[in-house]
Amino acid sequence: MRAEAQATPKAILIDTDPGTDDAMAILLALNSPELDVKAFTVVPGNVTAEQALENTLRLVSLAGRCDIPVAAGARRPLAQKLITAEFVHGKNGLGDIELPASRCETDARFAPDLIIEMIHEMPGRLTLVPIGPLTNIALALHKDPTIVPLVKEVVVMGGSISEGNVTAVAEANIYNDPEAAHVVFHAGWKVTMVGLDVTHKTNFGGPHLARLSATRGPLNDYATDTMRFLVDLSAQFGADGTPMHDPLAIGVAIDPSFVRTKHMRVDVETKGEFTRGQTVGNRHNVVEHNEEVGDRLMMTGIDRVEPNVHVAVAVDAERFLSLFIDRLAGK
Ligand code: RIB
Ligand code: CA
Repeated sequence: MRAEAQATPKAILIDTDPGTDDAMAILLALNSPELDVKAFTVVPGNVTAEQALENTLRLVSLAGRCDIPVAAGARRPLAQKLITAEFVHGKNGLGDIELPASRCETDARFAPDLIIEMIHEMPGRLTLVPIGPLTNIALALHKDPTIVPLVKEVVVMGGSISEGNVTAVAEANIYNDPEAAHVVFHAGWKVTMVGLDVTHKTNFGGPHLARLSATRGPLNDYATDTMRFLVDLSAQFGADGTPMHDPLAIGVAIDPSFVRTKHMRVDVETKGEFTRGQTVGNRHNVVEHNEEVGDRLMMTGIDRVEPNVHVAVAVDAERFLSLFIDRLAGK
């Protein structure tokens, strides 16, 4: 019987702002044979650009993967002040867990340049997986718009068409750079949005922690400590479990069947006093058509709008959480 041929691993580039959940996403990606991580690019978000770079280098070193380039990028959002989240991720951004000093070196290239270079090196094969604000991706687009048709897919952790987590309606990664998100969502490439609509249904709780802590290993133990930090933090706010935001985006890169998506028009609000950073999903891709009649407008029909984003609207949460635990168990 011929063994099931191992499909060619999917080439991905992860843009990240570690960040506790970023850290779990990075370890999942590096321990999943379905993925071939070609590079990490670093963006400020959860923490400053400097801290995010240090954290990324330490994580890649912990995983023994100094062969993968790590490049620093933007130092702030395109058009606003950076908003960091040490309140949630701890002073060092990694739940105040001290990782050993990194043995890896920083790649000399500026992150947007590395993104552009890698896309041209593997036309049609590279999937971008941004799990922080979209600043670096937008800068790459501004510098070289020809990359759009050469990218296989952009799997974004960010956004929400149902609720916010930093304001009533905005999700943190989009809120931290709405202008960048607007550019990325309207570039014309395939965008899959792994937003709060599904990550808030993918909660890692006490039973998952018990399973993860039942096995040992350097990565396993670090993941157990980090997930315990996140589960305890969530419990302080009365939540039963912590949402697996960034790991689920990696999960979707591994196996798109973890989520069900709906292709719809999504616009990013950049002006609203209460809504800046909201990803506004037009679920049915239609708007009313109005015409001038005297001193008023009259609705005379409907217009279709072009869908631009595949929004994840449902998730097989337990199957994903089991994959996450299984991939790190004993590592
Ligand atoms: O809203 C969740 C997102 O914001 C995650 O990427 C988390 O790491 C933070 O960056
Ligand atoms: Ca993140």
